[in-house]
Amino acid sequence: MWIRKATVDDVESMQHLIGQFAAEGLMLPRSEKSLYETIQNFTVAESAGRVVGTAGLHVLWKDLAEVRSLAVSPDCHGQGLGRRLVESCIEEATHLGIARILSLTYQTAFFERLGFTVVERDTLPRKVWKDCVLCKKFDRCDEVAMIYYTNIPSSAPPVRDHTPVG
Ligand SMILES: CC(C)(COP(=O)(O)OP(=O)(O)OC[C@H]1O[C@@H](n2cnc3c(N)ncnc32)[C@H](O)[C@@H]1OP(=O)(O)O)[C@@H](O)C(=O)NCCC(=O)NCCS
Repeated sequence: MWIRKATVDDVESMQHLIGQFAAEGLMLPRSEKSLYETIQNFTVAESAGRVVGTAGLHVLWKDLAEVRSLAVSPDCHGQGLGRRLVESCIEEATHLGIARILSLTYQTAFFERLGFTVVERDTLPRKVWKDCVLCKKFDRCDEVAMIYYTNIPSSAPPVRDHTPVG
């Protein structure tokens, strides 16, 4: 199994993989058009010539990027691929000079293992929610916002940590 940047030849498999989990309401579906248009953002995991994982790093602003469309094929869960895909996004964000990486997710335990912390959604900039109009859960979103801080200094005001006090 190896991790590499996606190519246009991967789009069909990526869409299928993402679509499986989107059907379960775990993530947003991605059209082929949106995948082609953002293909440079994506990293994939490949095993025996098959795409078994995908993750996209989407830059939102000077100091903020988002991990989107993170998916690992069910038969490859628990083998470290999700971690390697997110770490590759972190490396890319750091290379780009970005201080914070966002994930909107139900997989809080997974992202906590990778160093993300839960933050209050209301403290995130409005541009984060641009794509939410595409979501079926627009008016009843229950995803958790989590942030990873790279080693790049941020000029933005800190988002509030959601850890309960006391
Ligand atoms: C979430 C997902 C990407 C994890 O991928 P994975 O390859 O199974 O995860 P890894 O094997 O890399 O796990 C990395 C670490 O997280 C832990 N972990 C993985 N899934 C976990 C879960 N559901 N709950 C708690 N911990 C989890 C692992 O034990 C591992 O810990 P360690 O490295 O400290 O031993 C995968 O389950 C998936 O594709 N889920 C469906 C789609 C989805 O929900 N995507 C997220 C959208 S934001």
